[in-house]
This record gives sequence, structure tokens and C-alpha cells, in this order.
Amino acid sequence: MRIIGKSKSVDALRKLIEKVAPTRSSVLIIGESGTGKELVARELHDQSAVKSKPFVPVNCGAIPENLIESELFGHKKGSFTGAVADKPGLFEAANGGTLFLDEIGELPLTMQVKLLRALQERVIRRVGSNEDIRLDVRIVAATNRNLEEAIKKGTFREDLYYRLNVIMLETPPLRERKGDISILATHFLDKFSRKFSKELSGIEPDALKALESHKWPGNIRELENAMERAVALESGAQITAASLEGALRTSEPSGARATGVDFPDLSRGPISLDHFLARVERELVRRALMLTKGSEDQAARLLQTTRAKIANASK
Ligand SMILES: Nc1ncnc2c1ncn2[C@@H]1O[C@H](COP(=O)(O)OP(=O)(O)OP(=O)(O)O)[C@@H](O)[C@H]1O
Ligand SMILES: [Mg+2]
Repeated sequence: MRIIGKSKSVDALRKLIEKVAPTRSSVLIIGESGTGKELVARELHDQSAVKSKPFVPVNCGAIPENLIESELFGHKKGSFTGAVADKPGLFEAANGGTLFLDEIGELPLTMQVKLLRALQERVIRRVGSNEDIRLDVRIVAATNRNLEEAIKKGTFREDLYYRLNVIMLETPPLRERKGDISILATHFLDKFSRKFSKELSGIEPDALKALESHKWPGNIRELENAMERAVALESGAQITAASLEGALRTSEPSGARATGVDFPDLSRGPISLDHFLARVERELVRRALMLTKGSEDQAARLLQTTRAKIANASK
């Protein structure tokens, strides 16, 4: 099992995977971007009786609309310009194993009808052929979109939704399982230390604090990227807040809004640039000092400035 975490929600998820994996029921995985949907899909396959059979991932949002049918179901030679030979589709490639339909919410309505038929009748037809091919494929679908909303809007078929949603698994956002941050961060620390042949022994307490107070809109993928960057940059024995700072800053805007430094509406009249910049400076220094528990030296490193400036701005 590669799904890491000690929070209740992850524990429940692991238990459900163990129960569901041996069945051939369709599974719908719902979760925000970067929460581990593909990892869950692979786990479902690897813990099934057909783990030696293929696991075929398809990103439904990445295939041009006019090619999806032929990608999924294959085509007969001459069925359209460019179909120079008979070609099996991804359904056939996944026969006996698992087809992972990622971003299922992006599938055009016309394809939804065809997918529904394939699921109901367990047969497919290559484009341009009138021969049914009987298949045994387990479907795992994933989405970060609210499909119920899409059904209401008429962009997702309700019958397909119920067909896919025999079992629903949810991958929780990282901000709702803050207790997993340090375990995951340590996991990625080990992974990238090995990859970059670096001997890093851990994460400094102030760096861990910064990780735990970050909002993680990109979830585990964002944490993984932040740790990769920090490991690459770190020259000391442990990850410091300073080497993390750049990675955590990129998704800062939501935080900035929350604390009240709003960009002024210039159409309503003049403002003083210097005053505004001073306010931003004070706010950043205040945050840095909060993270470093008042250490001006560390705050200066975090903001790549001098101690004098920190002291001045925090007066
Ligand atoms: N619980 C976990 N334990 C360890 N690694 C995890 C966990 N969840 C996710 N990861 C890792 O985080 C990264 C993102 O996961 P994954 O690609 O499965 O997310 P996703 O939900 O499919 O994201 P997206 O919506 O962006 O496609 C991967 O490298 C994955 O291995
Ligand atoms: Mg994914």
C-alpha cells in the first residue's frame, strides 16, 4: 500500500480500497486536484486478482473530441482519414484488467452514450465496424468536478453517473488532514534525498510549522513539489523554512486576501504607491515573524532581506 497518512479519513480510504479492490465493481473516485486519485486507482488495481493484467489510464480531458471514440474503442482500416490500419482501442488494451477514466467529467455527451452502452452490455465496437467485441474490463473513473452539478446543467448523463458510481471513494483535501502533512513531507524528503543523493536528516521545527500552516490548494502534488524544491535547494543538514519559502509563496494570494491587504481600485482616485508598498512590507514582515516566532534573523532569511529592515518594518 503506497497511500500514506494516519488521519482517520485516509485510514477509512485504505480500508475501503482493500474491501473494494477484489471486486470487479465500477468505482468513482472524487477529489480535488492533487489529492491522490490516480494513486487510489492504481492501488485498486494492484490489490485485485488481476494485478498482472494491464492498468490503462486515460485522461478524458486531454484527447481531442473527434478522436476519443477511436482512442477508446479502436477503429477499422479506412473508417476515417488517417485510419490506415485496423487498430484496437484502450478498452481492448485493458481487457482482463482495469481501465482508469480520469477526468470523466470532461467526456463529451455523445461519448457518454457510447460509454454507457459499453458498460451495460460489456461489448464495444471499433469505429467503422459492425462487429461486437466482448470484453471484461473493470472501470475506475475519477473527477475533480461536481458531477451532480453537471447533471443538473445537462452536461453529464445521470444514467452514466449511476452506472459508474457503484462504489464512491473520496480523496480528502490536504487541509482537512493537517495531521498527515509531516508524515507526507518526511516521505517526500526521503524520496528526493535519495533521488538527489543528499543526506538530509529531517525538517526543522519552524519549517514544519510553515508546512502545517500553508493552505495547500494543490494538495499532495503541491507538497511533493515543494519538498522536491526544498531538498534541491537545501545546503544544510535539515530542511529550513528559508528553503521552503519560495515554494510556499507561489500560492500565497488567497492568504493575502484573507488578511486585508487588498489592491486599491485606481479608477476611484489616486493612492500613494509608497504607502501601499509600506503596508505590504509590514504585512509580510509580520507574517515572517509569526512563522519564525519572533526571530528577526530567520525572518530576514525568509524574506531575503536584512535584519535592519525587518526591525524597522516591525516597529
Ligand atoms: N496518500 C498519499 N501518500 C503518498 N503519496 C501520495 C498520496 N496521495 C497522493 N500522493 C502522491 O501525490 C501526487 C499526486 O497524486 P495523484 O496524481 O494521484 O493525484 P490526482 O488526484 O490524480 O491529481 P490530479 O487531479 O491533479 O490529476 C502523486 O505523486 C502521488 O503519488
Ligand atoms: Mg490525476
